Amino acid sequence: MKSIRVPFFCPDLGEQEIAEVVATLRSGWLTTGPRARRFEQEFAAALGAAHAIAVSSCTAALHLALEALGLRPGQGVLVPTMTFAATAAVVRYLGAVPILVDCDPVTANLDLLDAERKVAQLRAGALGSNFDPDTAMVGVMPVHVGGTMIDVDAMREFAARHHLWIVEDAAHAFPAALRKSPVHPWQRCGEQTATVSCFSFYANKTITTGEGGMAVTEESGLAEHMRSMSLHGLSHDAWGRYSGGGSWDYQIIAPGYKYNLTDVAAAIGLHQLQRAEQMRRRREAVALRYRDKLANVAEVEMPPADNNRILSWHLFPLRLRTQLLTTSRNAFKEELQQEGVGTSVHWRPLHLHPYYRETFGWQPENFPVATSLWERSISLPIFSRMTDEQVDHVVDCVKRLCVRHMRRAEASRRHSIGAKPKLNQLVSAHSKSPPKRLVKSHLKSPPRQVVRAHSKSRAAFRPLLTGKGSESS
Ligand SMILES: Cc1ncc(COP(=O)(O)O)c(C=O)c1O
Repeated sequence: MKSIRVPFFCPDLGEQEIAEVVATLRSGWLTTGPRARRFEQEFAAALGAAHAIAVSSCTAALHLALEALGLRPGQGVLVPTMTFAATAAVVRYLGAVPILVDCDPVTANLDLLDAERKVAQLRAGALGSNFDPDTAMVGVMPVHVGGTMIDVDAMREFAARHHLWIVEDAAHAFPAALRKSPVHPWQRCGEQTATVSCFSFYANKTITTGEGGMAVTEESGLAEHMRSMSLHGLSHDAWGRYSGGGSWDYQIIAPGYKYNLTDVAAAIGLHQLQRAEQMRRRREAVALRYRDKLANVAEVEMPPADNNRILSWHLFPLRLRTQLLTTSRNAFKEELQQEGVGTSVHWRPLHLHPYYRETFGWQPENFPVATSLWERSISLPIFSRMTDEQVDHVVDCVKRLCVRHMRRAEASRRHSIGAKPKLNQLVSAHSKSPPKRLVKSHLKSPPRQVVRAHSKSRAAFRPLLTGKGSESS
């Protein structure tokens, strides 16, 4: 039998990216220069945004955004506990206090009700002795987990009520969009969805430059400040050094950072940007195939989708219904690895990491949803170069493991009394409907026709494709 291996991720780099990198090397202009500038312009145009500043990572973009917004030591920022290290680390870089917030059980995005609760608890002195009840709350940092956008209107309403800026961690969310209803227009992530939107072009992201990021904003003051701070805090005219026309006599305005993106990286980004929607569509097709083929497996829950969102499909996070299984997520993950399937977990929540636990005294009970969700989450491979054969291999492996570890009570409940079910009977049982109570818990995880509805909404992404206008380039 042919053995199929499926890595967790594989970047999609074509001949155009390779040729552009070679041309960059031949040009002799390796660091920030004309290609980085063009990448910024085309990225901003793809989102309909006023300003885009290309930087060396999303972490750098987040740091620059908070610094430009004047975040000061001791101030408070609401940060989801369900995120990667970077979102909260940048708050700590500036000596401010991340107030962690639990997540929504379906999307894993920041839960605004819990955000309200955490602010109230802070004020009441109920978050413990590590927090000052008079902490000035200044900002909120939503993360669009896996590329499923948070409800932006609800977020803005919450932020306005609490007088907070919004720095969105959009590391996973290019391209992604949402609309209020089918009669409303689409709003792209980064199209005035936050005070500053920060994207990642890390190697495994939806578009990549190897390492890289982008800070996007409508506010020219913030843009100018971030641009200067991304290059040692040099005055505006110093940037001319990078296009040949600037002044040698730059001024240092502030002790800035070294966060600029190189032209070598931008060369890759320019072509990834052109193919962003084409690659997203392929990931959507992978997601649809997973959803089709795993729809009747009672032991797993699908990631959510709805027809008012276009997902970037950076991740395909499956949730195991561990109450129906005799195994743990970790063991399940390990067995998939043995079958040649690479997976990941997004994420161990921040409050379960030693630094946040020990510095702020967070307990698992402070975040009941994230604490239980992460223990049953497993992200399946999803990338644009994935073949249908690879998707089917992952599906077969997941099904096999579900059968192998199905709880006996559940197995016998599903099969005729007395007869011990054979393995192939159990596998075929997966094509039958799951029990009603399980279907109920799928409430916000709509059926596959909803994902299909996205194919009708693809026009929303045409503007993401800059310049050349061809979606199949
Ligand atoms: C949610 C989130 N935010 C920020 C980052 C950091 O991105 P970068 O590696 O570009 O700094 C990541 C990286 O994986 C991420 O997943």
